[in-house]
Amino acid sequence: MARLNLLEETRYEKLPVTVYSSQAEASLAVAARIAKLIKSKEAKGEKTVLGLATGVTPIGVYAELVRQHKKEGLSFKNVITFNLDEYYPMQPNAAQSYVTFMNENLFSHVDIDRENVHIPDGTLAKDKVAAFCLDYEQKITKLGGLDLQILGIGRTGHIGFNEPGSAPNSGTRLVTLDDLTRNDASRDFGGKQNVPTKAITMGVGTIFKAREIILMAWSQKKAPIVKKAVEGEISGDVPATFLQLSDHVEFVLDEAAASSLTRFDTPWLVKDCSWENGLKKKAVIWLAETVDKPILNLPKKIITTMVWPSLP
Ligand code: GLP
Repeated sequence: MARLNLLEETRYEKLPVTVYSSQAEASLAVAARIAKLIKSKEAKGEKTVLGLATGVTPIGVYAELVRQHKKEGLSFKNVITFNLDEYYPMQPNAAQSYVTFMNENLFSHVDIDRENVHIPDGTLAKDKVAAFCLDYEQKITKLGGLDLQILGIGRTGHIGFNEPGSAPNSGTRLVTLDDLTRNDASRDFGGKQNVPTKAITMGVGTIFKAREIILMAWSQKKAPIVKKAVEGEISGDVPATFLQLSDHVEFVLDEAAASSLTRFDTPWLVKDCSWENGLKKKAVIWLAETVDKPILNLPKKIITTMVWPSLP
């Protein structure tokens, strides 16, 4: 289905993006959507099937869901969860396991039935992994599919642990982690040498089948990969770009994570700007770089209108 994109300033963006002024505000908005979904399905006597993510990114969302459970009676009795991924090998009681993460951040604080919690099993013998992965997919399918999948994004452009090279139709499987991903995880493991080299992850295809997909990203650190995922060409080199093919995806960003998008980084390309001095300087530097000329070799009109007035 074609996406209606009526705003000229989002011209370069190939999927819907909502930018919040802070990570806290964005997390509240995502938690509100999840709570609304749970309540509306509950009212119809239905269960909600959620796809959940780990990492620093969704912590604020889980904290708000726990708050709503404790203070506002939001119940998880009718919620079934499937986590995206788990390191392999990994013992569930290890500090770095995603089982520990989910217990600490959500499951131990809400009334979810433990039988309704699914997390890839990092303890399996290698020859049992393929059957486990198939069963994981089938369980999701039998329950009618994921109602909502929440995602973070790794600096390699991975979603779940679908690293560069992942296929758009990939299913749950054992994968090898990218070097950058292992670097990013090294702090949790007290050194890169302790980070597992593999993981079990839902596939891009598994994620894609969810009825709603929300990818969240916060901080400047994520800005370059967010730009590639939102504005770049669809490519297995940045698996998150496959989400551009979905008509039920939304990126939820804070201002820092959105800062490299065209409408914020080079706004003169997509909208009328109010040319305060900082922006003039930025535009002149951008122009000089783009045409590969020293600033003083730019046309005289640009120097006099853009450069001199902005000098201190
Ligand atoms: C981890 C997880 C992903 C997560 C990503 C970003 O490796 N497997 O599901 O989205 O990296 O992590 P963070 O939110 O900590 O930046």
